[in-house]
Formats: sequence, structure tokens, C-alpha cells
Amino acid sequence: MTAEPRTVVFASQDELAAQTATRLAAVLAEAQAARGTASVVLTGGRTGGAVLAALREASLDWSTIDIYWGDERFLPGGDPERNETLARQELLDHVPVSPERVHPMAPSDGEFGDDPDAAAEAYAVLLKDVPPFDVCLLGVGEEGHTASVFPHSPAVEETARAVVAVRDCPKPPPTRVSLTLPTIRNSQRVWLMTAGAAKAEAVAAAVAGAAEAELPAAGARGRQETLWLLDTAAAGED
Ligand code: 6PG
Repeated sequence: MTAEPRTVVFASQDELAAQTATRLAAVLAEAQAARGTASVVLTGGRTGGAVLAALREASLDWSTIDIYWGDERFLPGGDPERNETLARQELLDHVPVSPERVHPMAPSDGEFGDDPDAAAEAYAVLLKDVPPFDVCLLGVGEEGHTASVFPHSPAVEETARAVVAVRDCPKPPPTRVSLTLPTIRNSQRVWLMTAGAAKAEAVAAAVAGAAEAELPAAGARGRQETLWLLDTAAAGED
């Protein structure tokens, strides 16, 4: 069972980022109080980056927070296009995380070499014994992709594997590694964050329950909560 989508609309992207960071810090602190640890899945993209930057200000015990990624551009370590690089620049280099709790997807010059299938498989093995994520942050593309699950792609049809290699991706770079929709749905809370009028059509269709093969973001739901965090433009209110 997953939760029906709910929408929260903010006056601007800045407001969206600041309020989402505050909300995220509260949920992570609650999980830490209950279990001693918390987990969050990070995303790339402009809105994702803005939320990470806003999160620097949160007063959180970073030492017991496990950090994962929903998708990664399969590029060399430190490449400015990698979602890991963005997260380090915007947040992780500025807060006292435990390095062993930061779990990036492998780069293309890492231990699996230029083999995205091996990188995806290794990430699936890593996730095998991980309890459901507390929060999975996601961005949304104009055509409805989320993480690196694109419309009518092999990844959107994947039901067996937790993590897949993505090739011929329509948004550059073409090779990526991504959680699949069933893995995303094994999160307590899924938060889809997006801003701008270009996203409004996809957002409206996904929230209304479009078919996930056409609009993968429609299939991104959490067990407890499915939240769309939008600015007025993405909500179609401008
Ligand atoms: C990526 C992202 C991707 C992104 C969306 C939204 O690697 O490209 O993970 O899923 O979040 O494309 O990006 P914007 O917020 O920049 O529109």
C-alpha cells in the first residue's frame, strides 16, 4: 500500500527550498529519536540542489544519518555533472556527516570501471538489508521522468531489480544508474520537488494518476506519504 499524493504549494522556489529543508530536518530528527538513525535519498536537479543548500542551516545530528542517491549520472568521480558532486558542494562538505554513512553510486572510473550494470548491481546489494528509507527526495522532468526513470524506457518496466543501469537517456548524460520505481515505493515518504511553469502539465497529470509508463513520476509514491512540493508555477497557479 502506498499513500495518495498530496500537494503543497509555495510562493517561490526559494520558499519551496527553505520550507522543504525545515520539513525534512523535522522528519529526520523524529526518525533519529525513534530509532537512533535516519535515512534520506538525495536527488540532483536545480530544485534538489536548492533544497540541499537550504538544509545546511538545519540543526541536525548528521552523524547518524545515512545518505543515499535516487539516481546518478555515470561519469568519473568528482565530475561536476554528478549528483554526488552537487550534493557534496551544496550540503555534505558543509555538515559533519559520517563518511561511512554516505553511500554514493559508483562513478565510471571507480571499482566497477565503465560498467553501469555492475555499478547498479553493487548498489542493489548495498540496499538489500537497508530498512525503508525515511525520506526519498526526487526531482521531476518536464516529460515526467523522476530519478533516471524515463517514460517508455526499460527502467520504467523493471519490476525485479532494485537498481538499474540506464542507457540512451534522453536527458544528458546518456548513461546513468537509477533506483527503480518499486525501490522508490519502498520509502516511508516520497517527496517530489519541482518548480517552474514548464513542469505544470506533467505535475498535474502525475498527481491525477497518469500511467507510470507514460509519466514515471506518477508511480513514485511513499508507504506513509506521497508529497508534491511545488512553487505556484509548477502547480499551474501562475
Ligand atoms: C538528474 C536528476 C533528475 C532531476 C530532474 C529535475 O540526474 O538529472 O536526478 O531526475 O531531478 O530532471 O531537474 P530540475 O530540478 O533541474 O528541473
